[in-house]
Amino acid sequence: MLRREILAIAALSFLPSVVSAQDTVKIGLILPMTGQQASTGKQIDAAVKLYQAQNGTTVAGKKIEVILKDDTSVPDVTKRLAQELVVNDKVAFLAGFGLTPSALATAPIATQAKVVQVVMAAGTSSITEASPFIVRTSFTLAQSSVPMAEWAFKNGIKKVVTLVSDFGPGIDAEKSFSDKFKADGGAIAEALRVPLRNPDFSPFLQKVADAKPDALFVFVPSGAGAQFIKQFVERGLDKSGIRLIATGDVTDDDQLNGMGDVVVGVINTHNYSANHDSAFNKIYVEAFKKANGNLRPNFMSVGGYDGMHLIYEALKKTKGATDGEKLIAAMKGMAWESPRGPISIDADTRDIVQNIYVRKVEKVGGELYNVEFATIPNVKDPVKAAKK
Ligand code: PHB
Repeated sequence: MLRREILAIAALSFLPSVVSAQDTVKIGLILPMTGQQASTGKQIDAAVKLYQAQNGTTVAGKKIEVILKDDTSVPDVTKRLAQELVVNDKVAFLAGFGLTPSALATAPIATQAKVVQVVMAAGTSSITEASPFIVRTSFTLAQSSVPMAEWAFKNGIKKVVTLVSDFGPGIDAEKSFSDKFKADGGAIAEALRVPLRNPDFSPFLQKVADAKPDALFVFVPSGAGAQFIKQFVERGLDKSGIRLIATGDVTDDDQLNGMGDVVVGVINTHNYSANHDSAFNKIYVEAFKKANGNLRPNFMSVGGYDGMHLIYEALKKTKGATDGEKLIAAMKGMAWESPRGPISIDADTRDIVQNIYVRKVEKVGGELYNVEFATIPNVKDPVKAAKK
């Protein structure tokens, strides 16, 4: 045998592993699977698995492999995991991000490595500005808070106390609600900020009782709503005549049914309800529950499900190419139907455009649901829209 042929055969014997590595596209999915934000991790992980069960694990001839990592919602851990996923696993996508600080801590890695970062949960407006490689499939707090302020003033509420978790999305919720409510002619009696970690709402609720507003506007992150409602009742605020209004993070489908009848009638605004009336959502809820021991999907789950759709469709457009710039270009302007309704990715901001629904908590078939009764279509992030 000629030396050339020997070398060719030797090279060929290496080929299968090389080809299989190139034929696999890896997604590093970083979520809080334990700790205070664990429900977000559980919901998104379940939605990602459901998407792959329904749509397969091959796209544009490539095998899609999801690598799940638990960041316990500690941003330093998120960052380290993102670095390892990029350097060691050579992921083409970083995805997940249960809390704003985790998404922000990862942004410089996405920029440096030119890896697309799909934010499936976190909701602070500024996140998409932290890297040109970030795209969001969740929501922003301003998207829900502005319509809540508008509804409140139109419905006779003139004086409000705001109560939010003291970090990015809470500050956004407070500011966007207050700005709109005051512009319409309402008054903010007090703006209360509660620590994110292990919150005790009692002292803050005492201040609310003393201020005697027409309504209390609340944002707490997914997973903290039940604790808030418990203390709201313990302080007797449910019988105080002060109306509770909120972003849908509070009346979260993940916990709503356990909150009790005290939340019946609470008006809130958000992007997704498990009760959303569409054929696609009915299929989604049924399949999600079936695969997860009857767990009801919440708004975090659709961020994960749609994030996977965005990744799959972008790969189809690039014909399997994993160049970050090409993938982001493919994602810009993409529009599709989600279980929450029609959604798209704003081509300028890479942020999500979606309907926001005004909902009322009601009993449906013996269970508590957020029942949508008004729709504000195609809402862009109001914070970014105001900057233009
Ligand atoms: C966030 O960290 O941005 C966040 C987390 C949970 C929510 C909303 C926003 O429900």
